[in-house]
Amino acid sequence: TQRRRYVIIDAPGHKEFLKNMVTGAAQADAAILVVDAAQGLAEQTRRHAYLLHLLGIRQVAVAVNKIDLIDHDPVKFQAVADAVRNYLADIGIEVQAIVPLSARQGDNIASRSLNTAWYQGPTLIGALDAFAPRAHPVEQPLRLPVQDLYRLDDRRVIVGRVESGRIKVGERIRFAPGGREATVATLEAWSGSAANGSSWHAPRSEAVAGESVAFTLDEDVFVERGALASTPDQRPREATRLTARLFWLDREALKPGDKVTLKLGTAEREVEVEAITEVLDVESLGTTDATQIERNGVARVILRSRKPLAVDLYENHARTGRGVLIRGPQIAGGLVIEAAEQARIAANDIVAVDSSVTADERRQQNGHRGGVLWLTGLSGAGKSTLAMAAQRALFARGQQVAVLDGDNLRHGLNRDLGFSDADRAENIRRLAEVARVMADNGMIVLVSAISPLRQQRSLARTIIGAGFHEIHVHADLAVCESRDPKGLYKRARAGEIAQFTGISAPYEAPTEAAVTIDTASMPLSAATQSLVDYALQSFAA
Ligand code: ADX
Repeated sequence: TQRRRYVIIDAPGHKEFLKNMVTGAAQADAAILVVDAAQGLAEQTRRHAYLLHLLGIRQVAVAVNKIDLIDHDPVKFQAVADAVRNYLADIGIEVQAIVPLSARQGDNIASRSLNTAWYQGPTLIGALDAFAPRAHPVEQPLRLPVQDLYRLDDRRVIVGRVESGRIKVGERIRFAPGGREATVATLEAWSGSAANGSSWHAPRSEAVAGESVAFTLDEDVFVERGALASTPDQRPREATRLTARLFWLDREALKPGDKVTLKLGTAEREVEVEAITEVLDVESLGTTDATQIERNGVARVILRSRKPLAVDLYENHARTGRGVLIRGPQIAGGLVIEAAEQARIAANDIVAVDSSVTADERRQQNGHRGGVLWLTGLSGAGKSTLAMAAQRALFARGQQVAVLDGDNLRHGLNRDLGFSDADRAENIRRLAEVARVMADNGMIVLVSAISPLRQQRSLARTIIGAGFHEIHVHADLAVCESRDPKGLYKRARAGEIAQFTGISAPYEAPTEAAVTIDTASMPLSAATQSLVDYALQSFAA
């Protein structure tokens, strides 16, 4: 267009081509979903939309094609447009334009058509040109997956592509996992494609995201292919357990206990599927009770590797936070990393002690399994009230149940923590670790904590595993503020409490909670009953 150049990646809609769709979308900055005006929102469109969401594409326009087949009827168009917009909103994609068009007749492609005089929005080209340009990865922290090592004379040359940030001569570089450090001694960089015949440039002092580099270090530290280079202060995580959203492509289903190869950047590591915590129905967007992931299925899984992996969260590092799963010779799935449990101590130095009572024995004696109901919501939404009422009801039915309340634990275990994001994350981590121990010991644990950020709750999910159930205790901010049981909102409004959730600190509502309880419209007894019913069903022996 006059505004800029585009590369179009065409991903056919048919199920058999979803692999192309995944690889294509993984390289895209924005997407146009094509919907048939006469057919409306078909399953394959839902699947595609969900995949876009999964792969982190947030800029989406919809082309409602074959508008001539519905006689350019604005009412029919509107019905399709509403359905599409609602579905996309449900999965967290805010659609930027929904364009009625006819590819065949050229209506609303490059110029506005008289056949749709009722339509006020942009043409398809206009919608494309309205997308924001790609955020430049140069400004992000350095990430350089090591691709290869060569020995030239007596120099060891490390080769790779700068995925984000910049690398400079004289700067210290850290290699994860492991954490060896050295200083960049020399650097050569090369951009452009091999096909156009460009060659290595003369030595440089700096190279940036998008460029391939060859560099040497001042010391001969051990580095191997698959290592992830960063600066020492903005390093990736080193984790042995991570939560990922994944899309499965292999004919054979993925099951807990399966071992597959995870390819992240240039690293390939064997990982084991520790748990499948959710399998999504892309049609309804609800979770299913499936225990394995069939071909073309979407799910959330916990993966465990024996050795630490250098990983980034997709939310912060789009380029290094996603990977593919390989089984045999084939790409079998794509994933984005949602949470990673930082390995704190070399796992080799600690050997877990086996419990003298097994989970099965506990289950038989207690008549139910252990697990965690994680209640998140604004202060004043009713989390503690609900947790206490549910505890009472479950106790009365003879269940082993306990409440971990954020407020209460902040008087003891978490007394050293405040309300910064980092402190809250640590608060959540401790609550999750304690909840996990209790759940492993057979108890039903009701955790009540604001846990305002998705990332914090994902971490809790990673720590607790398949026994984690997210419950959104919802009431609008205005309602919570009018309740103000502890008088804290008033004080926060008066500026006396900093970083108060909902007022001066964010609350990210769950998008995929197992249960949402609206305490503004539901009486306590009914809310308690629904939580108790959910617990009885989820933790049945
Ligand atoms: S969390 O964000 O780390 O999950 P948690 O649930 O443990 O928070 O503690 C929240 C409780 O601390 C609130 O119910 C409230 O009583 C109290 N509190 C004090 N300061 C704040 C604040 N700045 N933001 C939120 N809650 C606060």
